[in-house]
Amino acid sequence: MALLDIRDLEVTYRGSEGDLPAVRGVNLSVEAGQVVGLAGESGCGKSTIAGAVLRLLPASAKVSGEVRLAGEDVLTMSWGRLRAVRWSQASVVFQGAMHALNPVQKVGDQIAEAVLQHTNSRSAGPRVRELLEQVGLPAWRATSYPHELSGGQRQRVMIAMALACGPKLIIADEPTTALDVMVQAQVMSLLGTLVRESGMGMLLISHDLSVLADACDRVAVMYAGRVVEEGPAASVFAEPRHPYARALAAAFPVIGDPASRRAPKGLPGDPPDPRDLPSGCPFRPRCVEAIGMCAEIDIRLRQAGPGRAAACVHVAETVAETEAAAL
Ligand SMILES: Nc1ncnc2c1ncn2[C@@H]1O[C@H](COP(=O)(O)OP(=O)(O)O)[C@@H](O)[C@H]1O
Ligand SMILES: [Mg+2]
Repeated sequence: MALLDIRDLEVTYRGSEGDLPAVRGVNLSVEAGQVVGLAGESGCGKSTIAGAVLRLLPASAKVSGEVRLAGEDVLTMSWGRLRAVRWSQASVVFQGAMHALNPVQKVGDQIAEAVLQHTNSRSAGPRVRELLEQVGLPAWRATSYPHELSGGQRQRVMIAMALACGPKLIIADEPTTALDVMVQAQVMSLLGTLVRESGMGMLLISHDLSVLADACDRVAVMYAGRVVEEGPAASVFAEPRHPYARALAAAFPVIGDPASRRAPKGLPGDPPDPRDLPSGCPFRPRCVEAIGMCAEIDIRLRQAGPGRAAACVHVAETVAETEAAAL
């Protein structure tokens, strides 16, 4: 059984300016010991999925579908059960979370609070030291204040807090976005090691496909609230099938220039307004490969090679051509 199994997830934010469909029918699963990446430009619905998994979305969000944690549907469980499940079954490291540390409290005390709040233990000292070491910080760091730590070290503290109750699943939403490229790689590799050594599962979210390529087993690329490509991380990154995934994969970073990662190269324009999606394929207006039928058909994910899927009219042709060339 998958640790996390998301089926037909739809999330619509209701507001005075009308309904905003943020997630439009997503399927995604994470197995034990697996890191699954979720990529895509800002606004495509990644954080909404993270919030839906632990029911942390605002009341204005209308959610449907299934979100199963070890078989149990989070969307229909009681509040009591949900409280028990949060932190101990699944925990979240949010975007920019490292700025959420209390500046006037020692980091060890903050980790201890997470341990004591969510478990029955009386004393957290030994567990705090164990958690610090697990995230690659020396135990004496427990007595440091957040300002005495680097950005990367603060993010390690946040990861230690997420691990406090031994969750089976961690959702990390842009955990390294505020860090420079070298530190990003270190934190990503730490997360990968933790997951593989402990048999946890992780959903790792980033706008940057290249960051996910090394850290993940599988990756899903989102566009306008849907998964448009899915498959083994290495092959999606090396040989993307969807024109949008190709543009994201081509957005290589320039070392020393974090801003260069943001704009995918060769991808003009902005993502569409979710309240006003174009007809047919939502990526069509920005797609260099769009043809007439793309304005009419909103194509769903179709098989694109072993263990792979992509939502593009050209996909069947590409795969057929590759197979013919291999014969
Ligand atoms: N609380 C909210 N209320 C209304 N709209 C929201 C809310 N949170 C996110 N959105 C909208 O939902 C869409 C998806 O946002 P989000 O899930 O944050 O994307 P990502 O994490 O990929 O950047 C965006 O159009 C965003 O403006
Ligand atoms: Mg986000």
